[in-house]
Amino acid sequence: MSNNKEVSVLGLGSMGLAIAQLYLAQGYKVTLWNRTADKAGALVAKGAVLARSAAEALRASRVAVMCVYDYRAADAIFATEGAAAALDGRLLVQLTTGSPKDAREAEAFAHRHGAAYVEGAIQAAPDQMGRPDTPLLVSGAQAAFDEAEPLLKALAGGIVYLGEKASAAAAMDLATLSSIYGTMLGFLHGARIAEHEGFDVAEFGRIVAGIMPTFAAFLQHEGSVIQSGDFTVSQSPMRISVEATQRILQTAQETGINTEFPVFAAGLFKRADAAGLGGEELAALIKLLRQ
Ligand SMILES: NC(=O)c1ccc[n+]([C@@H]2O[C@H](COP(=O)([O-])OP(=O)(O)OC[C@H]3O[C@@H](n4cnc5c(N)ncnc54)[C@H](OP(=O)(O)O)[C@@H]3O)[C@@H](O)[C@H]2O)c1
Repeated sequence: MSNNKEVSVLGLGSMGLAIAQLYLAQGYKVTLWNRTADKAGALVAKGAVLARSAAEALRASRVAVMCVYDYRAADAIFATEGAAAALDGRLLVQLTTGSPKDAREAEAFAHRHGAAYVEGAIQAAPDQMGRPDTPLLVSGAQAAFDEAEPLLKALAGGIVYLGEKASAAAAMDLATLSSIYGTMLGFLHGARIAEHEGFDVAEFGRIVAGIMPTFAAFLQHEGSVIQSGDFTVSQSPMRISVEATQRILQTAQETGINTEFPVFAAGLFKRADAAGLGGEELAALIKLLRQ
């Protein structure tokens, strides 16, 4: 166990700076490295040590937390002189956002070079870090997670450990993003309806915010339905959504506003209805997506 409160932080973009700042504030001995060394200035003034190379930063502590732009940046760092070799005997906590494949490859690379590996997906902005409810998805070998946990808790109270597959955090992060962008596209189409009809779009935003807690509970229910495989109607028959999405499409066509989102949404529900799913729970649409 590394409980001697020391850590190396590689990457000092807006997220890396917030991470390093939290460790300093919590009494860690912090070693820093960033491609652009200037960004370490304020933290060095507060007691952090600036390493001359990524390899030196990796050697300085048992645990290294990396948070850079993407996995191409991480690869570039491990390609610098001595960096890959310096992983030997270390625990790498990779907080860079990536795909499940990125995570699998990064774990294999770390293991090949003698390091334990934990993958984390940060689901918060830099100024939201360090709070009791800051969400952080984490995956990787149990022993590596157990060792990293105190360092992760220093960054985010809302840790969800998703098990030993390193790719899990990235996969769940991507799945969460998919939910967000689906909602966002629907919201933007809704904003077009509101503004085209001459209504206050800010008020539309407030109305949507008001239904979010109920909608969140509904999404959670639909997730359980999919997991159970029982699509008997329990909350919302799909037929209602078939009609609702057709109505959104028809209104867009009648008023001449953009139809791309409703064409997509109504098209999917229409196909599901044609496949005989209209009388099942809404989440049965996933059967179409599996084909
Ligand atoms: N900011 C957020 O709101 C947020 C929220 C959740 C997750 N994240 C994730 O956190 C990670 C970092 O985000 P950020 O906001 O801190 O990004 P950022 O401010 O753009 O900083 C990018 C960092 O990556 C480094 N970098 C980029 N290309 C590099 C290369 N080829 N070689 C070496 N270093 C390289 C930069 O070094 P230089 O300083 O030298 O350019 C800098 O340290 C990302 O994966 C992001 O998805 C961010």
